[in-house]
Amino acid sequence: MTQPLFDRIGGMEAIMAATDLFYEKVAADPVTSRFFDDVNMPNQVQKMVAFMTWAFDGPSEYKGRDLRSAHKHLVAEQGLGDEHFDAVAKHLVATLQELNVPQALIDEAVGIVATTRDEVLDR
Ligand code: HEM
Repeated sequence: MTQPLFDRIGGMEAIMAATDLFYEKVAADPVTSRFFDDVNMPNQVQKMVAFMTWAFDGPSEYKGRDLRSAHKHLVAEQGLGDEHFDAVAKHLVATLQELNVPQALIDEAVGIVATTRDEVLDR
């Protein structure tokens, strides 16, 4: 049986390193950073770790809001759309590449994240 992607990526340590680096990139990119102006980042990173663990089939109970509820106001009030989603996906790929995650696992991770697009963009 195939191990969960969470374990193949390197477990909690790898997910936490990836989430930190990922948010550094999102915060440094003018396309994505404005959405996080009023957001408590340490808090956000924690939620993202929990979410990533869940998405990658690891041992987590994600207790945050569902993705539609969490992003609905960003779509309605700040114009969150495909270009922002694409930028976030690009930062995720760059992050995993920097951490030397094998490309096949990166493709798998991005595939999982891609399934959330319509929910995040409230469609
Ligand atoms: C790529 C898929 C995405 C996933 C898996 C994701 C995941 C999450 C999660 C788990 C939360 C926390 C939910 C909670 O508070 O309970 C969240 C909140 C948030 N996300 Fe995303 N997100 C995605 C895309 C995006 C994009 C494209 C942007 C903007 C560029 C964005 C901006 C935000 C912001 C600003 C919040 C905080 C909202 C608030 O607390 O008011 N997200 N996201």
